[in-house]
Amino acid sequence: CGIVGYVGHRQALDVVVDGLRRLEYRGYDSAGVAVVTGPGTLAVERKAGRLANLENRLDEVGRGEFAGTAGMGHTRWATHGPPVDRNAHPHRDATGRVAVVHNGIIENFAALRAELEADGVELTSDTDTETVAHLVGRAYAEGPTKGDLPASLRAVCHRLSGAFTLVVTHVDEPDMIVAARRSSPLVVGVGEGETFVASDVAAFIEYTRDAVELGQDQVITIDRDGYLVTDFDGEEAQTRPFHVDWDLSAAEKGGHEYFMLKEIEEQPTALADTLRGHFVDGRIVLDEQRMTDQDLRDVDKVFVVACGSAYHSGLVAKYAIEHWTRLPVEVELASEFRYRDPVLDRATLVVAVSQSGETADTLEAVRHARDQKARVLAVCNTNGAQIPRESDAVLYTHAGPEIGVASTKAFLAQIAANLMVGLALAQARGTKYSDEVAREFAELAAMPAAVAKVLGTVERVRELGRSLADSKAVLFLGRHVGYPVALEGALKLKELAYMHAEGFAAGELKHGPIALIEEGLPVVIVMPSPKGRAVLHAKMVSNISEIQARGARTIVLAEEGDETVRPFADELIEIPAVPTLLQPLVATVPLQVLSAEIARARGYDVDKPRNLAKSVTVE
Ligand code: G6P
Repeated sequence: CGIVGYVGHRQALDVVVDGLRRLEYRGYDSAGVAVVTGPGTLAVERKAGRLANLENRLDEVGRGEFAGTAGMGHTRWATHGPPVDRNAHPHRDATGRVAVVHNGIIENFAALRAELEADGVELTSDTDTETVAHLVGRAYAEGPTKGDLPASLRAVCHRLSGAFTLVVTHVDEPDMIVAARRSSPLVVGVGEGETFVASDVAAFIEYTRDAVELGQDQVITIDRDGYLVTDFDGEEAQTRPFHVDWDLSAAEKGGHEYFMLKEIEEQPTALADTLRGHFVDGRIVLDEQRMTDQDLRDVDKVFVVACGSAYHSGLVAKYAIEHWTRLPVEVELASEFRYRDPVLDRATLVVAVSQSGETADTLEAVRHARDQKARVLAVCNTNGAQIPRESDAVLYTHAGPEIGVASTKAFLAQIAANLMVGLALAQARGTKYSDEVAREFAELAAMPAAVAKVLGTVERVRELGRSLADSKAVLFLGRHVGYPVALEGALKLKELAYMHAEGFAAGELKHGPIALIEEGLPVVIVMPSPKGRAVLHAKMVSNISEIQARGARTIVLAEEGDETVRPFADELIEIPAVPTLLQPLVATVPLQVLSAEIARARGYDVDKPRNLAKSVTVE
């Protein structure tokens, strides 16, 4: 979910709605705002669906009804209860004097709800959040925290388990907003005579670049003159101020119809920025290293843990890391890893890959690994996010803000970063001489140009996409590094075009998938290089002829000049010849374009696919 809170000299409604627009990628099932419109009055509006629905509603009611300089807003990704008006945030207590917005999951909410109901409180929604509104309202109305909003929120936090960011207003405190954070993100923006809290700096960078990051289990009180942070016991607490170095235009669409299309175009830059500064004096350097070089040398096993596309980036890198380092590499979904009993010790390196750095399962996988003394290296696109904070070493991807929910440039940057982790390990272990590391890095450094070349040739892929818009299903086949590319191609198509899509290892074809082949079924095949991987190439050619004989429409991604495959390709998409282990960086790009174009042709919102959210901060 996305959260914004504001106290300052501007009309809070304008700031909050603007902020929500920039956070809509975090969830868009419903949206709502609350503004303190005077001592004793609170105006609240909430609406299911996109932010636009809320804005229309605000226009109907009249924005003048929301005059006030302290307010907050929320854009929701439903966890408890369906996305309908009554479940939209903000939630109020029975008196309507306190309003709360929330991101996360209150795990003990059923018990809290039962307790409130036993006391005769009538709950009006299905959410876990509403219980917090009632609890804060009561704590403020009576007892030891009476009349003290920060203390009331702190007292309630002690009673909550699970993950949460909470933002609270009260009609009796018209110049103050109070917020709390545990395991869900919250940053503070400090302006001139105005202060912001938000899930992401994107919500306020239009007004200020000076930000402060809250730590775990902290409560913040903001007013127009600044902020005060304490822990849940009321002791003053440490925070981390930082300066936001990207500007608003980076988060705008830059002339493209969708952010995702802009982000696809930005991939050469994202790759180059990610590689920059990491090969110095003949050595790979990480961004942060709180473990010794000896620790790195002692690593005897690598796990890559991640979710979604980030997981696929790990699958891609496995081939290279094992080849370069001779270390066993397991790549695992964070949601599986964290509930297993994986074999880990202090010589295990767990590489946690996450664009946002806040994905709940990946974060818990990091904690699971550290509990067993494994070292954790984070590959992350968000400076100072929770996952890198809890890791022993960090390599940041520099893809810049990624707004499209389906990952594109961050995915390519993750592959590049994972490969650098492999080179860093190879160099530490001495499995590669420094001139070899230099050569591998130089090959990586040539990839932005190769990706730019692919981008120059995708017009035909778009046409092809439009011709596939009415297909029911699409299969993707690959081998070796082409296999994770097939998985990522299928994931993109599901996410964006809501089309049934599956990626398979081509060698498995005869073990099941071939039964799916029927007349006209589009099958995308990622071909290995005919020179670099001649044996695999030959096997793939026979796979294609088998499915073509059964009526499939073959869409073949092949290296430029690959003549052998031509007769088997109903459609041919050419990609530049690059080193085998790096081929996924070029092969993924046409598949991104293909999915986006199919989705557009089907009339879907490419940036905000239904049911998905960019940051999955709940399990
Ligand atoms: C969501 C996004 C995906 C992303 C995944 C992991 O599902 O829609 O694009 O790959 O989360 O996100 P992370 O921030 O951990 O890389």
